[in-house]
Amino acid sequence: MADEFNSEARKKPQFGTRFLNNQENVFQHNAWDDVEWNDDLIKQAQEKLKLNSEITVPVEDQVKYEDEANIFWDKFYNIHQNRFFKDRHWLFTEFPELTLKPNESESKSQASDPSQINIFEVGCGVGNTVFPILDTNSDSNVMVYCCDFSETAISLIKEHPDFDGKRCHPFVLDISSNSWNVPFPENSLNYIILIFVLSAIHPDKMQYVINQLVKYLKPGGQILFRDYGKYDMVELRFKPGQCLTDHFYVRGDGTRVYFFSEDEVHKIFSSAGLSQTQLYSSKRLQVNRGKQLKMYRIWIQAKYQKL
Ligand SMILES: C[S@@+](CC[C@H](N)C(=O)[O-])C[C@H]1O[C@@H](n2cnc3c(N)ncnc32)[C@H](O)[C@@H]1O
Repeated sequence: MADEFNSEARKKPQFGTRFLNNQENVFQHNAWDDVEWNDDLIKQAQEKLKLNSEITVPVEDQVKYEDEANIFWDKFYNIHQNRFFKDRHWLFTEFPELTLKPNESESKSQASDPSQINIFEVGCGVGNTVFPILDTNSDSNVMVYCCDFSETAISLIKEHPDFDGKRCHPFVLDISSNSWNVPFPENSLNYIILIFVLSAIHPDKMQYVINQLVKYLKPGGQILFRDYGKYDMVELRFKPGQCLTDHFYVRGDGTRVYFFSEDEVHKIFSSAGLSQTQLYSSKRLQVNRGKQLKMYRIWIQAKYQKL
């Protein structure tokens, strides 16, 4: 899945700014922002989806992918270690909230310290969001909690040379499980980050996961969300036999991915009692100039607040 959830992360922080006004110029740059989808493009996407969802994964295999989901992700991290996800340049442009003000006092971080900002990254992988947050906010009173259900991923975070146990608390948790054991109380988190993680959860369990998370958010706290949108190039590339249910697929390595519409994202967060502060689809055209290939990417970005 080499080109997937980190593909945009390899780009420099220039996007959001380059628009394709003349189709003849398409191969002059590597990427274009806010690309409109015309009827032809939508029709082609619908045809590809019809084809790739004709044959679905047999039920017994679907059960295995659900029951052993953490094992498949563990294998993924055992193979790739922390080499897979690189520089996440877009993080602070898309989520400027994560650049916090430096400490005004010299107070020490403690769970009961009201000036402490508590951030929780869910499905953190090997820390490609966690370490930039710690680095950017080294002068601030920030505590970063992070969880993943892959023990290998959590171990890799703890072994990272920049890991600092006083400012970062990684732990193993399966967010789709019925029993949650977390190192912070309810109503204590300022920000919860969900980056390309809800898409890895079975659609039937997504609402439960968000309802659980909301309990730990402070009033006024926000969930910051970025994930795959329907018709993203990655969805259209799946082959017949990889579809689990509508817009939900299994990759060759056994990890799974869902593709969202804005309406679905809104329904999940608003049903959990949150209020929308941002919801949009980022539509990008990435271009392989050498091969003259056009790749249409769609990500959904959202911010929802607990009132
Ligand atoms: C696509 S990766 C994204 C990783 C990270 N958020 C990033 O953007 O680099 C999805 C992550 O979610 C984790 N994950 C999937 N299902 C999970 C679950 N039920 N509980 C906890 N973590 C889960 C996987 O182990 C993996 O690290």
